[in-house]
Amino acid sequence: MIQTRARVAGADATSIRLEVPGWPGHRPGQFAMLGLDPDRTHRDPLLPRPMAVYRVVGGLLEFRFKVVGRGTRLLAQAPRGAELSLLGPLGNGFPAPRPGDWLVGGGTGIASLYELARDAPKGVRVRLGGRTRADILGLDDFAALGGDLAVATDDGSQGARGVVTELVTPAAGETVFACGPEGMMRRAHALARAAGATCLVSLENNMACGFGVCLGCAVRTTAGFRYVCTHGPVFPSESLGWGAA
Ligand SMILES: Cc1cc2nc3c(=O)[nH]c(=O)nc-3n(C[C@H](O)[C@H](O)[C@H](O)COP(=O)(O)OP(=O)(O)OC[C@H]3O[C@@H](n4cnc5c(N)ncnc54)[C@H](O)[C@@H]3O)c2cc1C
Ligand code: FES
Repeated sequence: MIQTRARVAGADATSIRLEVPGWPGHRPGQFAMLGLDPDRTHRDPLLPRPMAVYRVVGGLLEFRFKVVGRGTRLLAQAPRGAELSLLGPLGNGFPAPRPGDWLVGGGTGIASLYELARDAPKGVRVRLGGRTRADILGLDDFAALGGDLAVATDDGSQGARGVVTELVTPAAGETVFACGPEGMMRRAHALARAAGATCLVSLENNMACGFGVCLGCAVRTTAGFRYVCTHGPVFPSESLGWGAA
């Protein structure tokens, strides 16, 4: 893990690419805390924002995001050459999927699955969902991987009309890797449980420190409270006490 200053090499409405000297490498599903006021001059926003590493491309660390508030708006507008503070890689990341497993992403959660899909063996099924085509981060990148990819959108503007979990039919012994809205992950958990499959979910809770100090990202698990930043963000869904929901 490093704490460093990262230089913006380019940004647009849904992605930012950073030069990060000394980046030690990461596993798919790990994340970084991006601080938008590295000199703490304006303290606005005060807290860094957690972002899953999307991929490394051309020696640059790339993140993909949806603008939801001030932090992500500033990321989208960051001028080339600007500096951010960066702490990472953080969290446990995903284990490697096996043929027959399912990668299920919804909304911003899709970003944490790209490298998993890219590095997956043949036979891994990728299922992505969003409200509209524009909500599916990196759709062209996923399509370029050429694997077993299917998409669902609420408005039918891309792929099937409906929710992404309708495209997920796990069988016993398979694993569902899910990241997205909680309702989507709960449904993935229920489908896996009913089929005798395993489900791993990556949580996107709000965070303040990202390394286990502020206690702001605690989640209740069957083994007591755990911290999404250090024990997660990837958890076995059954450990979250979701039952058959
Ligand atoms: C491990 C991890 C990885 C993440 N990876 C990505 C990623 O790759 N791409 C991406 O787009 N986002 C990702 N997120 C979510 C991202 O961190 C938040 O969207 C971001 O912090 C919002 O900052 P903001 O300043 O733009 O919005 P804020 O001003 O902080 O919030 C704006 C509004 O959105 C709500 N909000 C903020 N954060 C969340 C959240 N996590 N879930 C639901 N509602 C929220 C707030 O309550 C508020 O109403 C990740 C989160 C975690 C914990
Ligand atoms: S974000 Fe501070 S403990 Fe997890």
